[in-house]
Amino acid sequence: MHVAIFGTGYVGLVSGTCLAEVGHHVVCVDVDRDKIEGLDRGVIPIYEPGLEPMVRSNHAAGRLEFTIDAAKAVAGAEVIFIAVGTPPDEDGSADLQYVLAVARTIGRHLLAPAVVVDKSTVPVGTADRVRETIAAELAARDADIAFDVVSNPEFLKEGAAVEDCMRPDRIVIGSSQPASIEKLRKLYAPFNRNHDRIVAMDVRSAELTKYAANAMLATKISFMNEIANIAEQVGADVEQVRKGIGSDPRIGWHFIYPGAGYGGSCFPKDVQALARTAAQHGHEPILLNAVEAVNERQKAHLFDLVVRHYGAAEALRGKTIALWGLAFKPDTDDMREASSRRLLQLLWDAGARVRAFDPEARDEARRIFGQRDDLVLCDSAEEALQGADALAVVTEWKQFRSPDFGQLRQALRDAVVFDGRNLYEPADVEAAGLAYWAIGRGR
Ligand code: UGA
Repeated sequence: MHVAIFGTGYVGLVSGTCLAEVGHHVVCVDVDRDKIEGLDRGVIPIYEPGLEPMVRSNHAAGRLEFTIDAAKAVAGAEVIFIAVGTPPDEDGSADLQYVLAVARTIGRHLLAPAVVVDKSTVPVGTADRVRETIAAELAARDADIAFDVVSNPEFLKEGAAVEDCMRPDRIVIGSSQPASIEKLRKLYAPFNRNHDRIVAMDVRSAELTKYAANAMLATKISFMNEIANIAEQVGADVEQVRKGIGSDPRIGWHFIYPGAGYGGSCFPKDVQALARTAAQHGHEPILLNAVEAVNERQKAHLFDLVVRHYGAAEALRGKTIALWGLAFKPDTDDMREASSRRLLQLLWDAGARVRAFDPEARDEARRIFGQRDDLVLCDSAEEALQGADALAVVTEWKQFRSPDFGQLRQALRDAVVFDGRNLYEPADVEAAGLAYWAIGRGR
């Protein structure tokens, strides 16, 4: 099948590459000429396990093309994906200017019937707006061409995006036209072999499904962080509580890990956008607002523990803190809404210096913070410890999971570890003579 994909960000690039991998002919379009020229030369703008070789082999085989020529891409496509960004507006609602700009472009260049697919996470009702926008462009040039706008949200996780895309747990398709659903069913057939993963529904339900999934996951995290904070106050250990509740299949083991708060480009943005949509339609989203508020407070919690240990924020002036982890989660270089950013800012405001290490996010941190005296970006976890008073762990990269605590004890002048992801057993850390502060684990 001939497919065009607008937007070569995480979603567009990964989806396009996976569709090419199973044999479709995919043209990826972006307005960013540098990005497209880079991709043409095999330069992948994001770090995502497994993506680079897949882009290269499909590009070499002629199944995956990159262009800034929207007219060419639209003209030859039976299915046209919109996978551009929907950044939050000032009031938290999703900014649709890029989505609607693509809709106009499609309307201007469409020559034959096609199914237009909203892949970006967009507020309920967006498919209707995209449909109206394309129809207006077609009318303006007196063109009578059949098209449908389908909602087909993406559920991939950063760091596991290729795997999620190649082996989806569900494929949600929202449309009132059976022919459009059939078309996408064919497109996705290679991903839908052993049992049927396609969940067909109306457009608005599909749009809401995406927000409901992310909001539910964010709610689980904020809930556990709330329990962790209660555990701290009452002298309980949230890790024991987590094990005590996860075995109930109605609760489950996933997304009940307390920590330094959720980050990334999806949860914070989507929880806010759904709350905004609810408010616009006259419903007060009490729970969603609380999920967001708990997370905002949680991002500062590790700093609160640092202050508790030292007795006062003033005591941090002149201290050097080693920071392990900058990315919002492991296996990515993405620092959008990362908890590390809040901790860094709070430490700097208190007059501390930071020696940070992250296996992938070093360049991103340099891009965000530039050169500054109170931040040293290190090449290894050990280097970050040199001359440090304390260690704070913010991202649960595998390589941080089993450090030599004796070595840590020797390296850290104040002999204290602040663990924002509950990676260690308190007894192991304390046996080495270190003080240990974690999330929801007593004190
Ligand atoms: C999330 C969803 O998991 C995907 O299903 C969805 O497709 C995607 O958003 C999207 O809308 O595009 P992602 O943002 O890549 O994926 O990251 P997650 O793996 O969900 O992690 C989000 C944050 O929650 C991280 O900061 C992580 O550290 C935190 N987290 C996760 C916890 O604090 N506790 C947990 O138990 C799980």
